[in-house]
Amino acid sequence: MFVLDVFLVMERVSFSFPEDDKAAREPSMPVALPAPVLNQSKPSIQTQPEAPAQDQHVPSIPNTQENKTTVEEFEHFNRTTEERPVIQEVVPPISVSKEEEVKPIQEQFQPSVQVPQNDFIPEQVEPSVPTPQKQEQFEKFLKKPSCDFSDFQFDLCDVEGDVRVHGRSSSVFSVTSLENYNYEANNETWSVRPHPRKYAVELMAKFREVKIKVADYAQVPKCDVIHNSAAIIFATGGLNGNYFHDFSDVLVPLFITSYQFKGEVQFLISNMQVWFILKYMGILRKLSNYEVIDYDKEGQVHCYPHVIVGISKHKDLCVEPSRAPNHNISTVEFCNFAKMVYSLERNAAINLGEGSAKKPRLLLIARTQSRAFMNTEEIVQLIEALGFEVVIGDARFSTDVGEFARLVNSVDVMMGVHGAGLTNIVFLPTNAVLIQIVPLGDYETVSEYDYREPAVDMGLKYLQYRISEVESTLTDLYPRDHVVFRDPESIQRQGWRTADGIYLRKQNVRLNITRFRPILESALDLLRQ
Ligand SMILES: *[C@@H]1O[C@H](CO)[C@@H](O)[C@H](O)[C@H]1NC(C)=O
Ligand SMILES: *[C@@H]1O[C@H](CO)[C@@H](O)[C@H](O)[C@H]1NC(C)=O
Ligand SMILES: *[C@@H]1O[C@H](CO)[C@@H](O)[C@H](O)[C@H]1NC(C)=O
Ligand SMILES: *[C@@H]1O[C@H](CO)[C@@H](O)[C@H](O)[C@H]1NC(C)=O
Ligand SMILES: *[C@@H]1O[C@H](CO)[C@@H](O)[C@H](O)[C@H]1NC(C)=O
Ligand SMILES: *[C@@H]1O[C@H](CO)[C@@H](O)[C@H](O)[C@H]1NC(C)=O
Repeated sequence: MFVLDVFLVMERVSFSFPEDDKAAREPSMPVALPAPVLNQSKPSIQTQPEAPAQDQHVPSIPNTQENKTTVEEFEHFNRTTEERPVIQEVVPPISVSKEEEVKPIQEQFQPSVQVPQNDFIPEQVEPSVPTPQKQEQFEKFLKKPSCDFSDFQFDLCDVEGDVRVHGRSSSVFSVTSLENYNYEANNETWSVRPHPRKYAVELMAKFREVKIKVADYAQVPKCDVIHNSAAIIFATGGLNGNYFHDFSDVLVPLFITSYQFKGEVQFLISNMQVWFILKYMGILRKLSNYEVIDYDKEGQVHCYPHVIVGISKHKDLCVEPSRAPNHNISTVEFCNFAKMVYSLERNAAINLGEGSAKKPRLLLIARTQSRAFMNTEEIVQLIEALGFEVVIGDARFSTDVGEFARLVNSVDVMMGVHGAGLTNIVFLPTNAVLIQIVPLGDYETVSEYDYREPAVDMGLKYLQYRISEVESTLTDLYPRDHVVFRDPESIQRQGWRTADGIYLRKQNVRLNITRFRPILESALDLLRQ
């Protein structure tokens, strides 16, 4: 089950990353035995696999919930580790029979129809025995995987040349032209769990490792399918299902990693969640011209000139140009991309300074299970009295992303209590205003990290309103001299389950209209600039 606020904790964990970082980096698996030798009798060039069928996987979201589960309910179902989204069992590597292992090398060297028309496997046309003079020439074809394990959020390996991927055994081979290459002696194997929440050790342990190794032709399986496009291997699951995490953990990192390929990239998805593919099909289709491959189940060997294992994550919902491929994409590019995907046309919020006769529109992100507004009617009256047209947005898990995105894009101000619904800022027009209402309980830092910083990076205006004790329904549950009010920090120190259980799950908001009014007036001022 999913939890909104697991991420709060995760982010906190990340603040102390050196220790967690170490813990998260598990020793790589023992080097696999002989490379899986597949049935090599007949190379088969196959068409792309079918689009994933609904029944291929167990979606981690119970379908029965789907038409009545709001985002926030969904977030709040349960937050214990044990109840986190079910991650599919890892498929054991294929077993290899003795006979197949000792397949004669000549057979594997057979020139075949597999050699692609372009020159992505240049070493195949070279003499196969490196002589000392030739050594240097060969070296240039031995492009070693370039792996980065230094980030606290993700590991990533970039592999170029002749790269062969066998999903079922979770193996990626970087083919070297050197013969009798002993990858074990050369210690050239890497393991990556391709989901960017590296510091969440428990959660990460549920993802399959992708094993990357340098190997010579005698050690690698033949290609069943040859692609001219690049490929990216990544995993869904984890905290996906929470709208914030769908974007922060997969969609933005995938954009960062794949946008450079201009669609000429195929996605191989481990722990593939069908609901995720369906829900974000629009985005996936604009990033990749190819069908997604269900990595864990894929028995064929797919060969690519370039494979990236893992996806890069910068800051939640943000793209940092200095760390992006070619340094030429930013958070704004991501938002423009997302707007393009859903054909959103409004690029800029209303400018009241131009004496527009139109009313500014304000979207109130309603929640129902927790952190809900208790006096919505009164709030709406205030907002209307100040000259806004109000829209109440009730995004449910099953709400069509594009449909809700169009609503968001049509407004000039979006306001809501801290929570995943605010992820919709990606669809706001530039210069629109985000008003984040911060509940009691020491959630300022997290609120700013998750939404203020990305909002500013997206070119939005930002206002924050921290509720007072009397505006919190916690006053209905605890005496006013309770530690819940006196010392939220001490509750936070008891751990996120305790703190979130109180402040995020039990708290609703009764806005003091008088106290809140100046925030709306500031929003109007910002729209006049
Ligand atoms: C290889 O595949 C072919 C065609 O699918 C089959 O006829 C043959 O028996 C297979 N050989 C082995 C060793 O599995
Ligand atoms: C959706 O709700 C209707 C009415 O409550 C119910 O009959 C139907 O089974 C639900 N569908 C799913 C997928 O839960
Ligand atoms: C988790 O969900 C189960 C079943 O819906 C429920 O019985 C249990 O009380 C929930 N636990 C928490 C901590 O909310
Ligand atoms: C392989 O490399 C890792 C780190 O890169 C190192 O810790 C390990 O000792 C090496 N193993 C061998 C057998 O050289
Ligand atoms: C970024 O730079 C690369 C390489 O110069 C170029 O191919 C690509 O179109 C650029 N992307 C954007 C979004 O400008
Ligand atoms: C609401 O806010 C105003 C202005 O801060 C304050 O004077 C008033 O006492 C508050 N009302 C309640 C019921 O707390």
